[in-house]
Amino acid sequence: MAKKLNNDIFYVGVNDRKTHLFENMLPLPYGVSYNSYLILDEKTALIDTVEISFSEQYIAKIASILNGRKLDYLIINHMEPDHSGSIKMIRREYPEVQIIGNAKTLGMIEGFYSINDSVCEIKDNDTLTLGKHELQFFLTPMVHWPETMMSYDKTTCTLFSGDAFGTFRALNGGVLDSELVTDLYWDEMIRYYANIVGKYGVPVQKALQKLAGIKIDMICSTHGPVWTEKITGVVSMYQKLSSYEGENGVVIAYGSMYGNTEQMAEIVASYLSEAGVKNIVIHNLSKSDPSYVLADIFKYKGLLIGSPTYSNELYPKAADLVTKIKTRGIKNRVFGCFGSFTWAGVAIKELTELANQMQWEMCGSFEAKMSIKPNQHEELKQLAIEIAAKLVGVTKR
Ligand code: FEO
Repeated sequence: MAKKLNNDIFYVGVNDRKTHLFENMLPLPYGVSYNSYLILDEKTALIDTVEISFSEQYIAKIASILNGRKLDYLIINHMEPDHSGSIKMIRREYPEVQIIGNAKTLGMIEGFYSINDSVCEIKDNDTLTLGKHELQFFLTPMVHWPETMMSYDKTTCTLFSGDAFGTFRALNGGVLDSELVTDLYWDEMIRYYANIVGKYGVPVQKALQKLAGIKIDMICSTHGPVWTEKITGVVSMYQKLSSYEGENGVVIAYGSMYGNTEQMAEIVASYLSEAGVKNIVIHNLSKSDPSYVLADIFKYKGLLIGSPTYSNELYPKAADLVTKIKTRGIKNRVFGCFGSFTWAGVAIKELTELANQMQWEMCGSFEAKMSIKPNQHEELKQLAIEIAAKLVGVTKR
């Protein structure tokens, strides 16, 4: 069902509960919504579309709201196909619709969908009057793609924000945050950010600065709830994530073939707990999906990576995590590493190099030949104490 958000703005998005992997990579245990919005005024305007396999139900929703009126504008904030997928269908259904986008957007519309007629290029800060509603466009490149922009309805102080402030997890009945148990959405917002937008901390900061002086009463993102009551919370979450500011807590992410590196993970976790760290998340990299590991690494300031040496390199699951971390340029972490080797130790050298490259605060490392011995536990204890001291100010013993 379409849903009225206020007098003239309608939610016409859809829920996807059948796709297993977003971007064919990221698990969707609770689904995802593709959000689109329709404004009825003297002119009618649709903002973004939905993934193509939902276009039939999507177009039925739009028709039910338009109730015989024509669609004047299709405004494209973001061209990734989870949102642009139904552009061609909209043009087929409403041949006179004018498509509004910036120069990069229009190039992508031609590239993806071979559409180059009845398009209108807008620039940063341009406005479009629909009647009572006046929309202003803010170019926010790289939040998530180069063409990304946001549309702001000055009349109702509504920000159509594209992927920004979006979450995984479908909408179960309600659409507005006031209608939902939003606690369920926070972790899926972090996972969405860490995996989709996480590389672009600097552009997100620039976008937040651009929005700083604007009164916002409603945020309409392309995924997840429409924010009205929790606007301060979602904006501050984006401030934290985009500045790579982690909470007090430690992620221990390890790979282990035969349990020796895993044993170190358990020992160091116990010592962290003894040292007063409560938020400790342990991920076996052969079991946890990397999207959840990354989300926790964005969430917490402390990071310990464990890896055995494998074929003279990092264990492949740890190497994959390291690549993902480097891609996202994750900053400001308090770091340590550990691992086992049998005839040549390489993993710790590589993980130390990672810490140097990322300019993390290195708290120490521990490497054991084949297996950890009781008289070596003290070394892991010191590593745990060093990390705890940086996080929670525990006095070193
Ligand atoms: Fe939800 Fe970048 O697309």
